[in-house]
Amino acid sequence: MVTDRPIGIFDSGVGGLTVVRAVQELLPQEHLIYFGDTARAPYGPRPVEEIRRFSFEVMDLMAAQDTKMLVIACNAMTSAVYEEAKTRYDLPIIGVINPAVRAAVRATHNGRIGVIATKATISTGQYDRALGASGGDVEVFTQVCPAFVDHVEAGDTFSEELFALAEQYLEPLIEKNVDTLILGCTHYPLLKGVLHSVTNGEVELISSAEEVAKDVYQALVETGLLLRTRAIGTRRFMVSGDAEGFRSVGSRFLPGLDLVESRPWTTEPGVN
Ligand code: DGL
Repeated sequence: MVTDRPIGIFDSGVGGLTVVRAVQELLPQEHLIYFGDTARAPYGPRPVEEIRRFSFEVMDLMAAQDTKMLVIACNAMTSAVYEEAKTRYDLPIIGVINPAVRAAVRATHNGRIGVIATKATISTGQYDRALGASGGDVEVFTQVCPAFVDHVEAGDTFSEELFALAEQYLEPLIEKNVDTLILGCTHYPLLKGVLHSVTNGEVELISSAEEVAKDVYQALVETGLLLRTRAIGTRRFMVSGDAEGFRSVGSRFLPGLDLVESRPWTTEPGVN
């Protein structure tokens, strides 16, 4: 049955596990396959054209796993390929930008929306475009937060250094009086506590992970692909780099993560 096929969720590394967690909450019955391109992460500092090439390699791999839907659980990848991917694959494609933008436009009271993300994501201007096309009367303020990913990867969601960094990154956005902040990187939901604290709880934090899960659910309903069963779905996790390192960091993103398969890229043509 087509509804029995897994949903493919992927990211440059561990960040997409925040999306897996949110999808699992709404869709525990669905079978999920996850791929993290950890051998080539992080994508954020890379040129957009390189991210585009890597993204299509990852998407080809996921499409070859008999998936029924592809979820680009990475802002840098979504920024680089989302529009093109929709025409390239004969599968429903969900990215992380539109769901977050919709939620932010709904949440803002003063129309001033901040976006924090990696360099690649901000440089594509996709958040500015999506917010501009949203129909809402909004002003957008973006901020690159390059060091956040490293702190999260190192398991740091609490240090004084991280607080100082968060204050420094958010200061220009607070000065602009944003009342809503899009966490435009899949690692940032892990920093919600810090971000809530440095904004004194006065800014609405929009996590794309939870919004994406709602979109995945809706797209499954609309396409007739929703798996209707009380059984719990299977989970399969693959990475291109070190499986044990991924499991260890990844269990902070997805409690209970245990079995991770290593699936290195090969240079042999046609094998990937
Ligand atoms: N997953 C990436 C994103 O959401 C962040 C990590 C990276 O730079 O690879 O943009």
